[in-house]
Amino acid sequence: MLRIEPRIVAAGVLLTCSAGVPAEPGPASPPIGETPAILHHYEQARIDDGRYSFTDLFDAGQRLFDARFNLLDGQGRPETTGGGAPRAPGQPAFIRTSAPDANSCMGCHAQPRSGGAGDFVANVFVLAQTLDPVTHSVEGAFSNERNTLGMFGAGVIEMLAREMTAELFAIREDTTLAAREQGVPVTRSLEAKGVSFGDITVLPDGRVDPTAIDGVDWDLVVKPFHQKGAVVSLREFSNNAMNHHHGMQSVERFGEGADHDNDGLANELTEGDITAVTIYQAALEAPRQVWPKHGRARRAAQQGAETFAAIGCARCHRPSMTLDSRQFSEPNPYNPPGNLGPDDVTQPYTFDLLKTSNSNLVRNAGNGRIEVRAFTDLKRHNLNDTELGHFDNEQVPQGFLHGFADPAAFTVPPQPRPTGEFLSRKLWDVGNSAPYGHRGDLTLMTEAIHWHGGDARVERDAYFDLPVEQQAAVIEFLKTLVVAESRTGPG
Ligand code: HEC
Ligand code: HEC
Repeated sequence: MLRIEPRIVAAGVLLTCSAGVPAEPGPASPPIGETPAILHHYEQARIDDGRYSFTDLFDAGQRLFDARFNLLDGQGRPETTGGGAPRAPGQPAFIRTSAPDANSCMGCHAQPRSGGAGDFVANVFVLAQTLDPVTHSVEGAFSNERNTLGMFGAGVIEMLAREMTAELFAIREDTTLAAREQGVPVTRSLEAKGVSFGDITVLPDGRVDPTAIDGVDWDLVVKPFHQKGAVVSLREFSNNAMNHHHGMQSVERFGEGADHDNDGLANELTEGDITAVTIYQAALEAPRQVWPKHGRARRAAQQGAETFAAIGCARCHRPSMTLDSRQFSEPNPYNPPGNLGPDDVTQPYTFDLLKTSNSNLVRNAGNGRIEVRAFTDLKRHNLNDTELGHFDNEQVPQGFLHGFADPAAFTVPPQPRPTGEFLSRKLWDVGNSAPYGHRGDLTLMTEAIHWHGGDARVERDAYFDLPVEQQAAVIEFLKTLVVAESRTGPG
């Protein structure tokens, strides 16, 4: 098949702006003819040296997030899958199912603006990207169709998960020491920020019996991203998504100088680029609570907030969690290989989440701490039972329960992540992020609540036992949780 290769297009432009060659932003003679969407790449060493202001990095990240990548950027991965494995040459540049499936991150993350959630039409067929092209079928046997989530407030979510992971690691370490000292298996309960993740048992030889661990991977790394709870950081997600959706391959994932996908370009995204796009997402302001102006609606929303807690919705959709540190720091220490880690930089890049969140759902809690009102517990639950099974609509397991750990560290063989379990959805943007449910196939909040069986059956039944005005009041409360239509803060 005859392919237009980057090097035969507008060669003059490429000499000065080839992908991956770090160039500094600033006035330059305007390029003539076709150009890459990204003209400037960022050097991690200069970020480490503090050479860029927060605004420089945030804006650079937004440019990467909003850019409609093209052939000259390195868009496309003609000979590799979205998982990075080889596939037969001559694959189409775009395939709606197994991707590349979009021109930009913002192509899906657009409601009400860059960084937001998406329409049903922006759904992704998660895991189709690891197959040879799924060209003819959106059958559930091949992939899990998921709706686009917004990442407003994602920085505090990543930090909450990091602090929870540190708590769970400390418990495991303690349990391991006790088991070693006592020479018998020791069991402790796993609790982080007041959320119970079941029990851990450690054997004297250090192996973990994971059978009573609940709602988190056996490696105890709280992974707040993907509705399945499969990804630990915005950085890991960005490295995945750049390759999956756009065929844009980062140096930290695919290696320096390697044209892994054989599209004629290497070094398509630098470490600094991935830092910038991560900072952009992490610093996006958080959703906010906007009370209705009309007295009747306002009273209903206030009453609904109380009812929401009284009938137990708040057990999973936690109205308050406390972050001990208000600093976001990049990169995340729990990143798996293939992503920059703290040892790869001279110093982590930090910023103040209280400032960037700029929201009444992220409040100063004193002593350097902040209160986060995201309405989630960052734990996986199973909302399915014999009568209510809508949320059990997936067939392809997304990874394994041992997470990033060596399977030999456990007493039982590897098990896939359960297809029927999902993280308690963050509700802080629920007021303007329709559609609902992990597949985005529900148009009303009431439908989403209706399908809360299994672990949430008691709370769900309590909701439908309420008089209809009180049900409407809970909905009125949920409608107060929104993403602002236009940017209100520094992030
Ligand atoms: C074709 C649509 C589409 C494109 C393009 C896309 N995303 Fe997403 N994104 C999704 C969907 C769908 C989800 C939810 C996935 C899930 O839950 O399994 C998601 C989830 C995310 C999340 C996790 C949010 C959370 O709270 O769990 C991050 C971070 C993210 N995307 C970043 C990006 C970045 C960065 C890009 C561009 C490199 C990008 N996405 C491009 C559709 C898209
Ligand atoms: C056992 C934990 C649990 C309890 C209790 C619970 N939820 Fe949920 N909720 C979840 C999970 C998990 C999801 C994600 C479901 C999915 O999409 O797979 C969810 C999703 C939702 C959604 C859909 C949001 C969206 O944007 O798609 C709404 C609305 C909601 N819950 C409201 C409620 C209300 C109201 C109550 C109380 C009657 C409640 N929940 C009780 C765990 C829970």
